[in-house]
Amino acid sequence: MGAGMTGSAMAQMMAARGYADVVVIDIVDGLPQGKALDIAESAPWVGFSTSIVGTNDWTRTANSDVVVVTSGVPRKPGMTREDLLGTNANIVRSVVKNAVQHSPDAVFIIFANPMDAMCHVALEASGLPKERVIGQGGMLDSSRYRTFIAMETGMSVRDVSAWVLGGHTEATMVPIVSNATVGGVPLTQLLAPKKVQAVVERTKRGGAEIVELLKTGSAFIAPAAATIEMVDAVLLDQRRVLPCATLLTGQWGVRNGYVGAPVLVGEGGIQKVYAPPLADDEVAAIKAAGVAVRDLVKATPPAA
Ligand code: LAC
Repeated sequence: MGAGMTGSAMAQMMAARGYADVVVIDIVDGLPQGKALDIAESAPWVGFSTSIVGTNDWTRTANSDVVVVTSGVPRKPGMTREDLLGTNANIVRSVVKNAVQHSPDAVFIIFANPMDAMCHVALEASGLPKERVIGQGGMLDSSRYRTFIAMETGMSVRDVSAWVLGGHTEATMVPIVSNATVGGVPLTQLLAPKKVQAVVERTKRGGAEIVELLKTGSAFIAPAAATIEMVDAVLLDQRRVLPCATLLTGQWGVRNGYVGAPVLVGEGGIQKVYAPPLADDEVAAIKAAGVAVRDLVKATPPAA
């Protein structure tokens, strides 16, 4: 849902995977059609045989297995993700209602910002069980964290195992240091405490750093890659353990708030939620993320 920068980057990556048909829908006439046709015309060289369709018509999305919600506006320099709350809540609510009507069995992956609050909006608007409404924030933030660790240590990102849990706002992101490793070697043995702190801070501002550079929109390549990894996990029942936002039910003391945690993702969405032991300050920060998302939910304007 959404044929903007992120939606079309996701569509392109998904089409290139070559195992699933893709439908791109947007309210703007011609935009999804143009993007989808452009992607379809790459098939002869990229080599996929699956179909990609762009449309403004919900019936074309019927019986989707996965719905990714990118609809909404991105932030401009100086804005926080929270500033998008009112505008995007209305958009996400209406898009999700339409989508679920045509694809009642789909797993919904929420990308629109503020992502944590939009998960609550989508859960309510869809009426789906929480296992089928998943937020992608931690996937992107962990991707940034791993990238910055690789840059600082000069080691391959492939060997970096590091997670960002908590929320997907600058104030609530929790890059986990206590279990971050490169090839099993603790991050704290590889970088001085000051460097670790710098990586943590850069991760939290990772989205803003790109917004400041681009000036006319926010990141879309890494966000798309992070999200399509989740789509793969669901469609191929890969049973990946991924850092995604899920409705916590008491883990780390968070109840009824969408917060990032390691979740088992496969067929049907979230199959299990884990709350591994973490440092005390990390647990406290995750708890605070739970409080912050509940506050954002309270501040979300109701359906018009
Ligand atoms: C980001 C936005 C898209 O982190 O949430 O780049």
